Amino acid sequence: MTAQLIDGKAIAASLRQQIAQRVTERHQQGLRAPGLAVILVGSDPASQVYVAHKRKDCEEVGFVSRAHDLPASTTQEELLALIDQLNADTQIDGILVQLPLPAHLDASQLLERIRPDKDVDGFHPFNIGRLAQRMPLLRPCTPKGIMTLLHSTGADLHGLHAVIVGASNIVGRPMALELLLVTHRFTKDLASHVAQADIVVVAVGKPGLVKGEWIKQGAIVIDVGINRQADGKLVGDVDFTSAAQRAAWITPVPGGVGPMTRACLLENTLHAAEQLHN
Ligand code: GUN
Repeated sequence: MTAQLIDGKAIAASLRQQIAQRVTERHQQGLRAPGLAVILVGSDPASQVYVAHKRKDCEEVGFVSRAHDLPASTTQEELLALIDQLNADTQIDGILVQLPLPAHLDASQLLERIRPDKDVDGFHPFNIGRLAQRMPLLRPCTPKGIMTLLHSTGADLHGLHAVIVGASNIVGRPMALELLLVTHRFTKDLASHVAQADIVVVAVGKPGLVKGEWIKQGAIVIDVGINRQADGKLVGDVDFTSAAQRAAWITPVPGGVGPMTRACLLENTLHAAEQLHN
């Protein structure tokens, strides 16, 4: 392997430490701890793991963490009422509805019900629109975390050719607003696009989709995929071993983008408490 690892786990840990320090200072100033409410509907195993991590992160930095674990049979009206209640709660700075939701629920309507200044996922059309117009209020966590990881390499990002593979609302689209270029599953000859890229961000959910030989020598490779193999091992969307022979920098899976996404959720919640709710 010739690429240097972008150590998302260490960068996220350092960010959490800074956030915890700020929470301590807030207490010294007589200010309350930031509060995050996480709503989980149903029992999707991956979502249960993600939500457990987010709650543990809150505990580590001293945030108030409110758990709303609801049965899969929860109705749209019950969720709207819960969001209204949390919107009005002065102890709560951030509201997160874990996705995906059970099929009978209308996720868009629920996400739009969250007050934009408590939308710490940054998924509300108001926040996406603000990001698109380069005046962000709360930025989606994964793309925001990836920008921190890219800057951590010390590379001058200006003018670099970036290719994003995947166009989801959670990662690809807001990442395109951060970096400005996107391909997706309808893109013809994905390999030739990736081959031109100085920065490649892959967020599709298909193990080994991007081959090492597609990667331009010296590129920065950000792998957002988290795929569990039959043997239980987690792998990304990029063939790590072969890509690391050509890239200058690469994120590992696990320990790259995932911890950074969670640290940015904490960062957004602190930002909401400090700048939007004081
Ligand atoms: N499901 C997968 N990633 C995310 C995320 O960043 N936020 C929420 N709410 N759900 C997700």
